[in-house]
Amino acid sequence: MKRTYFVEAMRSFPYSVRTMTPSAMKERSPISRRARAVEESVTLAMTERAARLRAEGMEVLSFSAGEPDFETPEHIKQAAVEAMAKGYTRYTPSSGIPALRKAVAAKFRRDNGLDYEPAQVVISCGAKHAIFNAFLALLDPRDEVLIPSPYWTSYPEMVKSTGAKPVLVRGSEEASFKVAAKDLEAAVTPKTKLLIHCSPVNPTGAVYSRAELEAIAKVAVERGLWVISDEVYEKIVYGSTPHISIASLGPEIRERTVTVNSCSKTYSMTGWRIGYSAGPPEIMEAVAKIQSQSTSNPNSIAQYAAVAAFEGDQSFVAGWVAEYSRRRDVIVQRLQAIPGLSLSVPEGAFYAFPRVSALFGRRHGKKKIRNSAGMADLLLDEGHVAVVPGEGFGSDAHIRLSYATSMDCIQKGMDRLEEVVRSLA
Ligand SMILES: Cc1ncc(COP(=O)(O)O)c(C=O)c1O
Repeated sequence: MKRTYFVEAMRSFPYSVRTMTPSAMKERSPISRRARAVEESVTLAMTERAARLRAEGMEVLSFSAGEPDFETPEHIKQAAVEAMAKGYTRYTPSSGIPALRKAVAAKFRRDNGLDYEPAQVVISCGAKHAIFNAFLALLDPRDEVLIPSPYWTSYPEMVKSTGAKPVLVRGSEEASFKVAAKDLEAAVTPKTKLLIHCSPVNPTGAVYSRAELEAIAKVAVERGLWVISDEVYEKIVYGSTPHISIASLGPEIRERTVTVNSCSKTYSMTGWRIGYSAGPPEIMEAVAKIQSQSTSNPNSIAQYAAVAAFEGDQSFVAGWVAEYSRRRDVIVQRLQAIPGLSLSVPEGAFYAFPRVSALFGRRHGKKKIRNSAGMADLLLDEGHVAVVPGEGFGSDAHIRLSYATSMDCIQKGMDRLEEVVRSLA
């Protein structure tokens, strides 16, 4: 490589990398700094550990996976079968088939009061992919990204893998962990480029009110921040606070926001990998370009199934939410009755996020609980109950339990959890 090009290329890397010679970099590790900076997903790691124990014949009660336990509805599956029969098994346009982009634009209008042209919609391989694309489209190395904490475990890792810097802004536990606009504003520096906003929140179940969203939108507009709004749990709300898309609050915030959503949680389609995003044309063109040069289109058959999901009957969703709500009431009541655990009641999504730090320092036989990972290990080893340590969500004082599981599993799991906690010395 010519020296001028090399110097130019190296400028985009952190100082510590720039000062290494290329051969020193190669000798250290074949793995890029970018890949080394990224942590494994704690949720997937715990789900896999639970699956391994199950394969060994143990009855593991799992509260670790973040996915609905309902079957994908029949009419959606049928649309996939028909798509295959019709031979829709080839590449599609990279940003998705026109019928799906149109259906998503209609969905945004119907459910969220958002007016996007189909050309502003990109269909991706899940919301995870849509968020990653949006980060790649918006972030340069060393840009700062505000992440309300506790957060969905993938945000900081995705930000790091673009070379940008995650800046965690802690929500107060008394306010259901919701981050106040003034705290976001206090974290803004000249390098802050973007805010990732999520509501309902994974892992806390908090739902932001209109007033809270308006205050956050005001900060974003006044401080010139771009916003990615992750709304994958929009349909799963229980209380009196409805879901509101931040981009719907006015033209100024709409012009600064990429709204992301997915078929995964709403239609129980986690394995189909259909997510979508919409936003200002310039950003969506960049998103489309990145996708076209990386994954190309999401699975063609799943796209036809997603059209059926958006255009078909929606009434079953309310039935599922009513069932989640019953499970929430039971798991919250059971967790609150266990000495040493405390939690705020989730208003949305399907997670409970109890504080367990009062148990740190206690022992089970020779094992001393030191942190959330220690607590999760103990529950898995002694109770065969899989939960996810809060550490991976930015709070080591908590554990996360998904109640997208049967009532029977919840009752049995809570019996075992309570037994383990009561046995602590
Ligand atoms: C907050 C949040 N955003 C995005 C995703 C990714 O969803 P998808 O299956 O559409 O990639 C998840 C999945 O757990 C999530 O909890």
